[in-house]
This record gives sequence, structure tokens and C-alpha cells, in this order.
Amino acid sequence: MMDDFHLFPVDASSSAQQVDWLFYALILMSLFFIAAVFLPIFYFSIRYRRGAKVDRSNPQIGSNLLETGWTVLPLLISLGVFTWGALVYFRLETPPANALQVQVVAKQWMWKLQHAEGKREINELHLPLGTTISLTMTSEDVIHSFFVPAFRVKQDVLPGKYTTEWFRPTRLGEYHLFCAEYCGTNHSAMIGRVVVMRPADYEEWLNSGETGRSIVFEGHRLFQERGCSGCHVDSRAIHAPPLEGVYGKQVPLASGEIVTADDQYLRDSILVPGKQISAGYENLMPSYTGHISEAEIMQIIAYLKSLGEQRPER
Ligand code: CUA
Repeated sequence: MMDDFHLFPVDASSSAQQVDWLFYALILMSLFFIAAVFLPIFYFSIRYRRGAKVDRSNPQIGSNLLETGWTVLPLLISLGVFTWGALVYFRLETPPANALQVQVVAKQWMWKLQHAEGKREINELHLPLGTTISLTMTSEDVIHSFFVPAFRVKQDVLPGKYTTEWFRPTRLGEYHLFCAEYCGTNHSAMIGRVVVMRPADYEEWLNSGETGRSIVFEGHRLFQERGCSGCHVDSRAIHAPPLEGVYGKQVPLASGEIVTADDQYLRDSILVPGKQISAGYENLMPSYTGHISEAEIMQIIAYLKSLGEQRPER
């Protein structure tokens, strides 16, 4: 299936057709306007060729209706295309809640992926059919881009920042995974495959071979090993913000700002603790830059998230 020739890639996700309809509509509109411009050009260049016996008096014709028409119609068409494109874009940019989470770390020149249950993969992504998947992605070095043509999704993967990408596979099979941002010598080799399996097969795959521990488990282990728990749990000796239930909350900062404790905020707090100090606390925490990997930070964040799920708002 992967190596058949297709003019367009197969559509294998719930978003694919929406992107395709927009794309086809743009092609049709372009063809229409190409015809509207070039057919008269051909017609007039033959009819008014040198030596042809035709009326060349060129009378002035004024028509407000015509002038208004060819101004207003293209305006409406452009606004229509813009609205349509924006609707599709916002849908692609907003991951639905309760999606299956997969962590993605890009580096020159490979994709490292980890499923919530703990299973790790390199340059391969196994997925269950019909399930909404949400990727949380970051890079260890330069800008990459996670591109699955069959799903019609492409998102830059940036160092120092989390980006997300979501899709719902609707067709069994194997599909190309590309890096779509030039990232150095072996950019073209930074490829892989996405394997969409029946949910039962996916469960079996998930529990086969080296399964590892769940991301939340690993995050908890790191939270203790790296000394986070020394200050952030039962913090009587050292005054540090408690982290239970912090995920997703509004956090007042010493600067007077209020920020949402999302993945990016937690990541920054681990790597650049002095950047956004919680109101009422001192800038005491050492930076973990260089002492912790991107995958480990994602695990700790997943653990902090799970704390919130166990004990919702008090
Ligand atoms: Cu990574 Cu191109």
C-alpha cells in the first residue's frame, strides 16, 4: 500500500476529507479563473490578429453594475474561502478532550515516541483504528516537522516549546511519516511509518515485547529521584509550591501576572525556575537545564497531570 503510486495520498484520518474538499475547491476555482482569463485571450488574439477585417473602433462602454459585480463577487469568494479554511484550520488545531496521548521527541535525525502505557518506539507509531490520538511534541535540537500525508496533518516540532497534533485514523494500513522541515544533513532520512491496527491488535502489540512502565509511573519515579519531592511534597522545611492539582489551574505569579499551569508552564518551571515565580514564594529552585531529558520532563508533567485527576479542585 505504501509504495503504490497515488496522485493524492490515501485519506486515512477523520480530517483528511475536510482538507481534501477545500483543496479540490481551490483547484476548481483556479481552473475556472484560468479558463475565464485565457479562453478570451486566445479568442481575441485570433479574432483581432493583424490583417483581420474586424471593427476596431473601440467604443467606450460604462457599466456600474459590471464594475461593482467584478469587485464584490471576488471579495465574497475570497472571504468564503478564508472562512472555510479558518474553520478547517481551527478544527485541526484544537485537540478533542480524552484523546489517547503519545509523547514525541524529535532529534537529529529520528523520532522518539512513547505511549502513555510506557511502550517506546523509534521512527514508528502504532495506533488503534478509530481512536482520537493527540501528540505532544518537542525537539532536542533544531526545528523538525511531524508530517503524515495520509492523515493530512503537519506540525512543526520546536526546541523549547510544546506543540500538539491530533488525528483519528479511519483506515487500517501503513502510512508514511516524514520530517517536513529541513533539519540538517540527514533530514531526508528522518522518516518512518505509522501503523494503524485493529484496537485488539493494538492492545496485543502494546503488551508485547519490552513494555516498560507507564509514563505516569516513570514520572513519579523521577519526581522522587531528582529531588522534586524533597521540597514540593509535605513542604514544611522548605517553602515550595505544592503541586497536587496544579495542572490546568490559574497560578498567580510574583510579578502580578496570572498564568495557566499547562505543559509549557511546568516545563519552563523545571528548566528556568526563575522565569515565573509563584506569588508568595522565593526564587530558590535550581535549574534542571542539562540535567534532565525532554522525554523525562514529559513524564514528570504526565505525573503532575495525574495528581490533578486524582484530586480535583478543592
Ligand atoms: Cu527533522 Cu527534517
